[in-house]
Amino acid sequence: MGAGGVWATVSVLATLLLLRVCEGVFIEDLRVPAVVEHNANATAVLDCVYDLAARESDLVTVKWFFKDENHLVYQWGKGLAPAGSGILRGRLDLEHIASRHALKKHRALIIQNPTIELSGNYICKVSTKENVVTGTKKMIVYAPARAMNLTQERNSESSINISCSAEGAFPVPRLDIYMKQESRQTRIRLKKVKSVASMTEEGVFDATAHVHLLDSEIDPRALFECMMTIPDTQYSLKRVIKYHRGGKMADTSAPPLSSHPVLLTAGVLLLWSCSLCDTS
Ligand SMILES: *[C@@H]1O[C@H](CO)[C@@H](O)[C@H](O)[C@H]1NC(C)=O
Ligand SMILES: *[C@@H]1O[C@H](CO)[C@@H](O)[C@H](O)[C@H]1NC(C)=O
Ligand SMILES: *[C@@H]1O[C@H](CO)[C@@H](O)[C@H](O)[C@H]1NC(C)=O
Repeated sequence: MGAGGVWATVSVLATLLLLRVCEGVFIEDLRVPAVVEHNANATAVLDCVYDLAARESDLVTVKWFFKDENHLVYQWGKGLAPAGSGILRGRLDLEHIASRHALKKHRALIIQNPTIELSGNYICKVSTKENVVTGTKKMIVYAPARAMNLTQERNSESSINISCSAEGAFPVPRLDIYMKQESRQTRIRLKKVKSVASMTEEGVFDATAHVHLLDSEIDPRALFECMMTIPDTQYSLKRVIKYHRGGKMADTSAPPLSSHPVLLTAGVLLLWSCSLCDTS
């Protein structure tokens, strides 16, 4: 094949390709909020912005799926009423108009008050007589923690247990523990931290992280910081406590004097006998 032949082939292919693009539908933009807060009375607007060739098809069907194409959650077509199904039945604003264009009017998915179980991939699928196009994007519905604590406990005369816990977050939160000095900005992430998380009946997570440290490795004026983050979101929460050397364990756990009536009596007797000595 000569150079002319190659060019002819290339231009035929290009024309076919162009025709293909121009005849059907194509997705210009799939707008899915990356992160929304759980149960915050928010409205998540998932918009599947598509365009059609100039020679418009009259048969356009828009379908939205959740997780995979086996889970249809919404569909609409020209001349049909928009309908929610599956996990989104009853949770959509079906009145919303995304575009005045008759073939694009109800292309968007409007989720009212999204909750954690709606976290995941959303697939938009648009079909015309000519072709079918799909696009997928993920939306994370996160739940902030209900409570978060950072505590220190003495485990022995020479070591402490720093423990950080968070309740009711979604998805699984990450807990990092740092040590820093009161007067300085720099912080050091502690490496030997052990973390565990468990799912509650409501589907959220309780997480705990702890680390054992020797008093000899800690600056007396140190601060401990626990930082909770939910991966892929901007959400974070922190707690800071001061290191407390506290002395020997026996000191902190000594019961009050009044609970030792025998010792107390002996002490009083001793005092009394001494005063006797003085007066004699
Ligand atoms: C939730 O939002 C809707 C519309 O934005 C508003 O009418 C309604 O009062 C809100 N509900 C609560 C509990 O805040
Ligand atoms: C340290 O704290 C963690 C979390 O609270 C706990 O599971 C662990 O048993 C504690 N270790 C000691 C030695 O007290
Ligand atoms: C945090 O501490 C409070 C009060 O000490 C306690 O009621 C709560 O259960 C703790 N929460 C966590 C997540 O450990």
